[in-house]
Amino acid sequence: MKLLHGGDYFPEQWQTQPETIKEDFAYFKQANINTVTVGMFAWSILEPEEDHFNFAWLDQVFDLAEENGIKVILGTPSGARPNWLASKYPDVLRVNSRLERNLFGGRHNHCFTSVNYRERVRIVNEKLAERYGQRESLLMWHLSNEYSGECHCEQCQSAFRHWLQEKYGTLEAVNQAYWNTFWSHTYTDWQQIHSPTEVGEMAVHALNLDWRRFVTDQTIDFYLHEKAALQRYSDDVPVTTNFMADTEHLIPFQALDYSKFSQVVDVVTWDCYPAWHNDWESEANLALKVGFINDLYRSLKEQPFLIMESSPSFVNWHDVNRPKRPGMHQLASMQLLAHGSDSVLYFQMRASKGSSEKFHGSVIGHVPPERNRVYQEVATLGQRMAELDGLVGSMKQSEVAVYYDWENDWALQDIQGFSKTGMHYHRTLHDHYRPFWQQDVNVDVITKNNAFEGYKLLIMPMVYLHSEDLLEKIQTFVKSGGTVVYTYLSGMANETDLVYEGGTLAGLQDLLGVIINETDVYYPSQTNQLLLGDATYQVHDYATVFERTSAEAMAYYGSDFYQGEAAVSVNHYGDGQAYYIGARTGDDFLATFYTDLLEQLNISSNSSTKTSQDVSVQTREAIDGTVYYFAMNFSNQLQSVELSPNLVDVSTGQEVETSLDLQAFEVKVLISKT
Ligand code: GLA
Ligand code: GLA
Repeated sequence: MKLLHGGDYFPEQWQTQPETIKEDFAYFKQANINTVTVGMFAWSILEPEEDHFNFAWLDQVFDLAEENGIKVILGTPSGARPNWLASKYPDVLRVNSRLERNLFGGRHNHCFTSVNYRERVRIVNEKLAERYGQRESLLMWHLSNEYSGECHCEQCQSAFRHWLQEKYGTLEAVNQAYWNTFWSHTYTDWQQIHSPTEVGEMAVHALNLDWRRFVTDQTIDFYLHEKAALQRYSDDVPVTTNFMADTEHLIPFQALDYSKFSQVVDVVTWDCYPAWHNDWESEANLALKVGFINDLYRSLKEQPFLIMESSPSFVNWHDVNRPKRPGMHQLASMQLLAHGSDSVLYFQMRASKGSSEKFHGSVIGHVPPERNRVYQEVATLGQRMAELDGLVGSMKQSEVAVYYDWENDWALQDIQGFSKTGMHYHRTLHDHYRPFWQQDVNVDVITKNNAFEGYKLLIMPMVYLHSEDLLEKIQTFVKSGGTVVYTYLSGMANETDLVYEGGTLAGLQDLLGVIINETDVYYPSQTNQLLLGDATYQVHDYATVFERTSAEAMAYYGSDFYQGEAAVSVNHYGDGQAYYIGARTGDDFLATFYTDLLEQLNISSNSSTKTSQDVSVQTREAIDGTVYYFAMNFSNQLQSVELSPNLVDVSTGQEVETSLDLQAFEVKVLISKT
């Protein structure tokens, strides 16, 4: 097994220059490229007219790939439909939330419910599977591309109503779950139910949640429909689709619940585009966010994932699209491997000549490879990756988990109340992850679908929407010796966003040994203090006022009407302990708090000392017990780090000193046998 190196390739754009395609394969080989992903947006050449198929160009790609020992990930074309299809079947086009049907254009502009769209997708997918399903070089099916978005057409409305009927059975149950007597929103007929829209209903939070759940389910249903079309001819090849992250902070993609979607893909794959060299944060802070999101996507299936797309240099959709500085490509790509990827795949292998992505980074650009620094750096990475095939299939061993939940995220976004501008769920997740990243402690970022057993420490930041089922899992975890940390804004609402009577889920208060009475909030310039021993830390945005039933106070508020009352507490519960951090603090308090816990729980770190927290050391453990250490310097200066003895540098084969020097932006990979 090899680590995959390669990526999205669009030979359909070069049909008038066939020699270009041949040259490309020669360049691929030279750069240690072993995989190409093709076909994602090729529907208009695959099926230029309804039921007339053209495979000659794709046959040639498979032939060339096989001649060059390159594997093919084959995309299905549903991400962008041809013009003729939209003209003949207008219902395939999406209807927006203002209930206007889109014109043909862009991509991903289709209705996932449309019977006509599903039928045309079935036909083209079946043809692809029939022709290529048994090709020796076919590595994987890549369904569509970055499924996303929603449609508000009549077919979708009726599917949504059906989904609600299945879920609730009766309208009374819907009305109760939605608290619909509020503002007289009671439904008296299923037909009155409509997707949330700015020209209609936006205020019913449970409706918003259910619509998002429905969009996820409908997208999964479409994915399964695509997959079923392949299976008649190809049922032994893994099937996946590429996931995404949102915003320049690389937060979990908001439009779909990947904790659900991941259950139907054979391997999680995703598209990672950090804005390296930006002007608002250090490379190390961005690297932390890259670490967090990869730790989440790896944990979705608790198996190695694939980076399906990344840029060899710059993208075309950030505000400023900076080329990666020399060396950054190696460091950034190795970081993806360090967090559990078995690939570095790119968008794109060759830049297009026209249209909107012509200035997106690519392995082969407009400047020929011989003069192209990006191509050279890709080739160097290819060489280093070829040394690391033993990494394939290896996992991270983590004793710490941070909890994330898509539905909670959605519910927090809807909250009208508290400090709206100070909500910052994602920033809080990063803040609670930071102490571990900085101290080289492996972390899994898990969801409610993961097993909690096996972790020593589980961190639950801002779990506002909190089911009874989740509580039960946590109780079992803590009773059997686990340590859990909760924060402000926890356990307030159930799955349809109805507030628990008493203000907080009773069982959670019991677990924490507290009774929560009030959530105080601050304007951005206002603060309180948190007093811990002799130290004083700042409190901002949120401060919970609570009484203790069985918990012990660890830290106290320094001012305001609850001065002297507990701000942080710990409760012994079964064989474990439950911490409650009632207030939002800065990194200083969290670093102290978690450093103490690491020591107390005897949680191991991948390094002992280091000259800067901008150095990150992550490990993966192969089935044969070999541990891979990735020592990564995200600072622009020479740094050194102390690692375990007897490590061997993979590139040189030499045993290294326990104190390892790393040049600016250097990454070293070392192995040990356990
Ligand atoms: C207005 C409305 C009320 C309520 C309050 C909230 O006064 O009349 O129904 O929405 O705002 O502040
Ligand atoms: C996404 C898409 C690709 C391409 C890249 C550009 O990941 O899947 O087709 O548009 O973005 O960064």
